[in-house]
Amino acid sequence: MSVIGCGYLGAVHAASLAQIGHRVTGLDVDADRIGALAAGRAPFHEPGFSEVLARGVEEGQLSFTVDPGDLAGCDVHFLALGTPQREDGLGADLRYIDAALDALEPHLRSRAGRPTLVVGKSTVPVGTARRIAQRLAPLPGVHLVWNPEFLREGFAVADTLRPDRLVYGVADPNGADAAVAVALLDAVHRPLLEAGVPRLVVNYESAELVKVSANSFLATKISFINAIAELCDITGADVSDVAEAIGMDDRIGPKFLRAGIGFGGGCLPKDLRGLISRAGELGAVDSFAFLREIDAINTGRREYALRLARRALDGRLEGRRVAVLGAAFKPDTDDVRDSPALDIALRLHGEGADVRLADPAALPGVRRRYPSLPTADTAEDALRGAELVLLLTEWPEYRALDPVRARVLVSRPVIIDGRGVLDLGSWRDAGWEALGLGRR
Ligand code: UGA
Repeated sequence: MSVIGCGYLGAVHAASLAQIGHRVTGLDVDADRIGALAAGRAPFHEPGFSEVLARGVEEGQLSFTVDPGDLAGCDVHFLALGTPQREDGLGADLRYIDAALDALEPHLRSRAGRPTLVVGKSTVPVGTARRIAQRLAPLPGVHLVWNPEFLREGFAVADTLRPDRLVYGVADPNGADAAVAVALLDAVHRPLLEAGVPRLVVNYESAELVKVSANSFLATKISFINAIAELCDITGADVSDVAEAIGMDDRIGPKFLRAGIGFGGGCLPKDLRGLISRAGELGAVDSFAFLREIDAINTGRREYALRLARRALDGRLEGRRVAVLGAAFKPDTDDVRDSPALDIALRLHGEGADVRLADPAALPGVRRRYPSLPTADTAEDALRGAELVLLLTEWPEYRALDPVRARVLVSRPVIIDGRGVLDLGSWRDAGWEALGLGRR
């Protein structure tokens, strides 16, 4: 089988398929990335990925190519291309999917009616899969299933091999064509199904909506608790207490209720905006106005943290040494796409602060993209001489910082916990002014 598009999703998917016994060829237009993957080297930081990649390549189950001609013998093709936000609006840019289909079509045609499965993994606006199915309809034996991916960065391999659920979108769940397509995809997923992973067969539109609804719902939960956090700051309540207590209601649940500087990454912000855009195109503008607020609350958290920082420095940022701990959009990844942490660091730097940015994984990428932003190899280096410390990505090593030892390094013991993970009491006991967002 093939995996077309070897970014985060595709590369992990290809390696995971090889891990469960399939012969997989990954295709991408980025020759450097393909070179690294073919040599068994992970081009990004993801726990557990290097091991499955190296094993797959070594055992000969997994290969990578830039030549679409190498896909000719494949029975199954996974589309794992990026669908970034369009430059001219909120909607998703589908050009990479269309280009992949252009490259794939001659090979699908040459199969002369032998059953071939095309599986969409990318997150797409509702209506896309049916359009692609229409395009593929004249090709005999070709079936399209839309099978969204729910993996989280930092847990990508585990989430791929043990997902909460598999969702198959087909043209008509009760149609004869669907039975063939479902049987083919079940054969791919056999070890997962045997392990008890639930599988739902729905129509294309439902499958597409499952994915963007899940991410938009998660985004809504985070912005909700962040709005409550603001009220906590005004009233003297503590948002961790509020979150803990409401999370005990199992209709609400405790997850994704951590207040702080908000969500980022390549998925939640983009999918939220994609849904707003698509709903608008389909005439449901008013019902989705609230998602614009969810987005605005989220980006507002960055400004909120900046205000706290300015206040902590008495409004004078020019030349002040500020340690920023964390650049990645969350721990266990080097991904800085739409990262609140990096955004805040860049804005402090832009306002004249003498920033020292630390991150255990993301610095190589940050240094390439923002060469003038000063970085520090370790948290200790960042803290040395700092007049203000901001913890913005909750890497385990930052959560475990010893306030007594850190106190010796800084020139002024003031810390802002932008992720709600520090025990503010123990920092205060060690002589720090410790500020949280919505926390006492
Ligand atoms: C997200 C979804 O969680 C996955 O299910 C989905 O498959 C993926 O997008 C995708 O569409 O590919 P991911 O982007 O890896 O996964 O990150 P999350 O773990 O969802 O975190 C997103 C952001 O929310 C991070 O910046 C995180 O710091 C923030 N967050 C999370 C909070 O601010 N508070 C919380 O309580 C939880």
